[in-house]
Amino acid sequence: MPQENLMDKIVSLCKRRGFVFQSSEIYGGLSNSWDYGPLGAELKRNVKNAWWKSVVQARDDVVGLDAAILMHPKTWEASGHTQSFSDILVDCKKCKKRFRKDKIGDTCPDCGSKDFTEGRAFNLMLKTYLGPVEDASALSYLRPETAQGIFVNFSNVLNSARKKLPFGIAQIGKSFRNEVTPGNFTFRTREFEQMEIEYFVEPKDADKFYEYWVEQRFNWYLNLGLNKNNLKKREHQKDELAHYAKACTDVEYNFPFGWSELEGIANRTDFDLRQHAKFSGQKLTVPDLKENDGYPYIIEPSGGVDRSVLAFLVDAYFEEEVKGETRAVLKLHSDLAPIKVAVLPLLKKNDKIVELAQKIKRDLQTCFVTVYDDTAAIGKLYRRQDEVGTPFCVTVDVQSLEDKQVTVRDRDTMKQDRISTDQIKDYIFKKLFNK
Ligand code: GAP
Repeated sequence: MPQENLMDKIVSLCKRRGFVFQSSEIYGGLSNSWDYGPLGAELKRNVKNAWWKSVVQARDDVVGLDAAILMHPKTWEASGHTQSFSDILVDCKKCKKRFRKDKIGDTCPDCGSKDFTEGRAFNLMLKTYLGPVEDASALSYLRPETAQGIFVNFSNVLNSARKKLPFGIAQIGKSFRNEVTPGNFTFRTREFEQMEIEYFVEPKDADKFYEYWVEQRFNWYLNLGLNKNNLKKREHQKDELAHYAKACTDVEYNFPFGWSELEGIANRTDFDLRQHAKFSGQKLTVPDLKENDGYPYIIEPSGGVDRSVLAFLVDAYFEEEVKGETRAVLKLHSDLAPIKVAVLPLLKKNDKIVELAQKIKRDLQTCFVTVYDDTAAIGKLYRRQDEVGTPFCVTVDVQSLEDKQVTVRDRDTMKQDRISTDQIKDYIFKKLFNK
């Protein structure tokens, strides 16, 4: 399928089936701002849960945090964001449009002119005022990365969780950037969610753990089903590095609009802790660490929730020819699928079938996200579930009333098994979790 068609299809599927809606649509929409609908909210939650499970709950050396979005304004002076978190912008003198200098070369993409103003730094942090008086003393920022909430809590966590190096702190949360060129659906927005780990290590081990986290994070995407041909690592050139980083490798995905960053794994050195120690006057060191004045180095895997969701959607979308018809199917990893099971009565006018189907649905619902649907013929009901990635459909038919068996259909193979009603839960459980 041509790549531009694929993106159109994903955007249309997202709207039609309730994954993603444009923000404030009834007012004409706010461009580049998106709301996750019922299925999108489930999918996004599943992505975050898979991440949290893998980097916090399944490990002994990483603990979680949920810090506030609003932070003391000094945070951003210490972190360097007030001085350095900028894009250089230029104005085209002919058509008056404004662009990021690094994105356009020497020719205006709109009118072809080569006559630009001098570049000016534009800070990407979103400003706000805390409290009723809008003066300089109330000026604050919506955090542009979740990382700083971790750094300012470094000693709190070290002391309360009694961790020894190497250890990490992980957090998921919203970040905000006044992006100059948002776009490509949910890929680049001004409000987005990050999944970040700050992993504290002895400076002598920093290179080793940097390599380790690049591999861990790359494999996380593969294990959740992304096609390996659509995933690659790209090491940053020195001139691309953020002001705090000594090295950075991006995990990139082959989106329909080209290879683009899903996640960056950076060696932030001791920059952040030293800066916060300097600006706060607090000691942010590790008592047992003898080298580097007690300051650990930090390896930071930093991924985007929205970008991951988009990559999983794009990667899972297939169109297949089945009995002369096209079926659209989302072959999402079962951990990510928004609905795990759909229960479908073959005849919605037969009360006994409906009753049994609803009883099965209520029972399965105690373990899995389950829906009941009787609003179309069975072929159409299957297609609907395929299109949103539901791994299993349970069909109740006339025969089920006699033999207490149902048909369980697998999304990917379309193979159907006849299963006893008291075995459905076990059967699905094994298929979902004993892979
Ligand atoms: N703490 C490091 C940091 O924030 P970053 O490379 O600027 O590094 C990390 O951002 C990740 O956050 C990116 O890899 C991307 O997945 C996500 N991200 C950054 N800006 C974004 C935006 N405007 N829209 C959506 N996701 C974004």
